[in-house]
Amino acid sequence: MNIALVGYGKMGKEVEQVALERGWTARVRLTSQSDFPSSQVIRGIDVVVHFARAADVERHVAEWAKAGKPLVIGTTGWGSSMDTVRKLIEQAGTGLVYSSNFSLGMHIFQRIVKHAGALINRFEDYDIGIQETHHKEKADSPSGTALTLGNLLLNQIARKSELLTGTPQGAVKPAQLQISSARTGNVVGTHSVLFDSAADAIELTHRAKNRRGFALGALLAAEWIHHRTGFYSFEEVMAQLLDI
Ligand SMILES: NC(=O)c1ccc[n+]([C@@H]2O[C@H](COP(=O)([O-])OP(=O)(O)OC[C@H]3O[C@@H](n4cnc5c(N)ncnc54)[C@H](OP(=O)(O)O)[C@@H]3O)[C@@H](O)[C@H]2O)c1
Repeated sequence: MNIALVGYGKMGKEVEQVALERGWTARVRLTSQSDFPSSQVIRGIDVVVHFARAADVERHVAEWAKAGKPLVIGTTGWGSSMDTVRKLIEQAGTGLVYSSNFSLGMHIFQRIVKHAGALINRFEDYDIGIQETHHKEKADSPSGTALTLGNLLLNQIARKSELLTGTPQGAVKPAQLQISSARTGNVVGTHSVLFDSAADAIELTHRAKNRRGFALGALLAAEWIHHRTGFYSFEEVMAQLLDI
């Protein structure tokens, strides 16, 4: 497999490292200073792996989809462009897999949280909250993963209907589920879901130890989308791979 790396920062470099270990080649490494590659270079690319900046996702997808290349989008914070990006992929007849968190452990965690949410829905005594911590360079807040967890819990818990992000102004309303974010030091990514009652507390935590897990999942997605067309979340890909 020959991949193009759009974004050659912390994640782009990690993806390259894991790709090389598999005998794959990173033909292109683009940063904010790079020009779009020539058509001759593009011809040799199998899949584009994007870990760059949210503001450029729409433009980059348009360029690469026009060139007929499938994409894996790991960049976070572009949720408002989702419909446009889906249309670009469908019109070009190519493929795309996206996720705010490509870690396989996080995928397992989300399934556990979904199940926990279904249980907590039956027990009104418990309030629900999400906390996330990342390194201080992270651009978006709350994390895309925290929003995914929040929406997953809203779908499971009837008494919660709204995510509250940022600092609450006054009391948190009963229907609100608060996501609190911290940006500290070099933390790769920690997400906790808290179920709190007057009698006890249940805490579920996923803690990324390094960036390798994200890179492994992104390359799994790259291999999967290589010969497919269509617009998929990583959750859909995993459901097909695991057949559940
Ligand atoms: N989905 C996941 O599993 C997952 C995991 C970790 C991180 N992320 C997300 O991935 C993204 C990147 O994270 P990171 O930690 O690798 O960030 P980073 O270290 O800051 O690297 C960002 C890279 O993107 C490049 N870039 C910026 N604008 C660009 C443009 N117009 N064209 C091409 N490249 C451009 C930067 O180039 P310059 O150096 O020239 O600015 C840099 O190489 C973020 O959105 C982050 O939230 C996702």
